[in-house]
Amino acid sequence: MSDRKTEPGAFEQDSEEPSRLSLSRREAIKAMVTGAGAAAVASIPGVATSGTPPVAQAPSNSAPVPTTVVRMSINGEAKALAVDPRQSILDVLRETLVLTGTKKGCNQGACGACTVLIDGKRVNSCLTLAIMHEGAEIRTIEGLADGDRLHPLQQAFIEHEGFQCGYCTSGQIMSGVGCIAEGHTHSTEEIKFWMSGNICRCGAYPGIVAAVSDASGKGRA
Ligand code: FES
Ligand code: FES
Repeated sequence: MSDRKTEPGAFEQDSEEPSRLSLSRREAIKAMVTGAGAAAVASIPGVATSGTPPVAQAPSNSAPVPTTVVRMSINGEAKALAVDPRQSILDVLRETLVLTGTKKGCNQGACGACTVLIDGKRVNSCLTLAIMHEGAEIRTIEGLADGDRLHPLQQAFIEHEGFQCGYCTSGQIMSGVGCIAEGHTHSTEEIKFWMSGNICRCGAYPGIVAAVSDASGKGRA
């Protein structure tokens, strides 16, 4: 038996012991492009996940924060949400609706990890308050696939290996969907320019650009 130490939940491809992972590599990759990463990780034995991030409790002597009801459509589903006026769309998605496919990177508009489509336009969801979007239609990474059928851009990201760690991937894909709908895909240089608001710290740019270019000819924006 190998004496190599392995972190709980880590991949154990070289181990002589049977793998403790319940996910295949294909399933893990699919989770990255559909925003189902948290649920996928939760299924790995030995990996503790808390599900919803802990919400900070207000000091008991402070007055409760008044909320405002905002109506919006999230991935085609009508919602009436009681939001804190200070909540960004990103925080409403992640903390109120537990749609954690949309990622928080910088939380200041610099990385694009939080990109969603609002009324068809790409928006850094960390930079805009939910109360500003009464009646808006919001589309996130969770709303792209049609059941088990991936959106063409999700499929292209897999085929062109447009990611490594996957943290930026949902933002890249949502931005790519917007880029294609805008028609900014006539050349590699044009795609690079119009996708430049989305940072990939792993440097998977060649695959990302190839995926956007490939999917641009396949419709279903
Ligand atoms: S988390 Fe919104 S731009 Fe970085
Ligand atoms: S795949 Fe790791 S940050 Fe882009």
